[in-house]
Amino acid sequence: MKVLLINGSPHVKGSTYTALKEVSDTLNSEGIETEFLHVKNDTRSCIDCETCHKTGKPCVMNDDVSELSLHLDEYDGFVVGSPVYYAGPNGTLMSFLDRLYYSNNSSKFRHKAAAAVTSSRRAGNSTTFDAINKFFLITSMTVIGSDYWNEVHGNEADEVKQDLEGLRTMRVLGRNMAYYLKMREMAKNNGLEEPKIEDRVYMNFIR
Ligand SMILES: Cc1cc2nc3c(=O)[nH]c(=O)nc-3n(C[C@H](O)[C@H](O)[C@H](O)COP(=O)(O)O)c2cc1C
Repeated sequence: MKVLLINGSPHVKGSTYTALKEVSDTLNSEGIETEFLHVKNDTRSCIDCETCHKTGKPCVMNDDVSELSLHLDEYDGFVVGSPVYYAGPNGTLMSFLDRLYYSNNSSKFRHKAAAAVTSSRRAGNSTTFDAINKFFLITSMTVIGSDYWNEVHGNEADEVKQDLEGLRTMRVLGRNMAYYLKMREMAKNNGLEEPKIEDRVYMNFIR
C-alpha cells in the first residue's frame, strides 16, 4: 500500500513539508510506503480546452499533472499539503489540483484515502482545509481525520517543529489513514465489493 504526499508549497523543506513528513513517517512506521511530490512553481492553471474529456487522455500540458495521471493507480491514498495564503490554498497547488481532478476519471480516486494538511503562521487554516477537501469529496474519496483539524503553525520549518500539538495531530492522522488503508485491503481480500455507480444526471439550472 502506498500513499502520495503532495507538497503545494514553493518551499521544498518548509513548514508544509515538515507537517507532511510527520504524517509520512507515521505511515511508514505502520508499514505503509510513501512518496513525495513537490508541486512546481510554474504549474499552469486549467485553460478549459476540454481536450482531456474529448480524448480521454491526460492533460495536454506536459508536466507533473500529466505524469502523475499515468501513475494514479499505484496509490491507495493522498495527503495534500498547502501553506495558507490569504486564508486559502497556494495558487499553484490549486492549479495542480484543478487539472489533476478535472482531467482524470473519478474512478482513479474513488474510495481511496485522502487528507488535507495546512500550514500557516497564524490563521486561515480552516478555509484552506475546506477548499482542498472539496476535491476529495466530489470524487468519493474517504477523507481521513485526526482529533484536531489537520493544521500546523509556524512561519518556517523550525517554528513548526515547536508546534507539538500540530505535529501530534499529524501523527494521529497518519495512524488513522494507515488503519483505513488496512481495513480497505482486508475488505477487498474478503470479497467486499465497492458500491455500484448510478448513471449521472446533469441539471443545468438555467434550463
Ligand atoms: C502570499 C502569502 C500569504 C500568506 N497568508 C497567510 C495567511 O492568510 N495566514 C497566515 O497565518 N499566514 C499566511 N502566510 C504565511 C504562510 O502561510 C506560512 O509562513 C506557512 O507556514 C509557509 O509554509 P511553507 O514553508 O510550507 O511555504 C502567507 C504567506 C504568503 C507568502
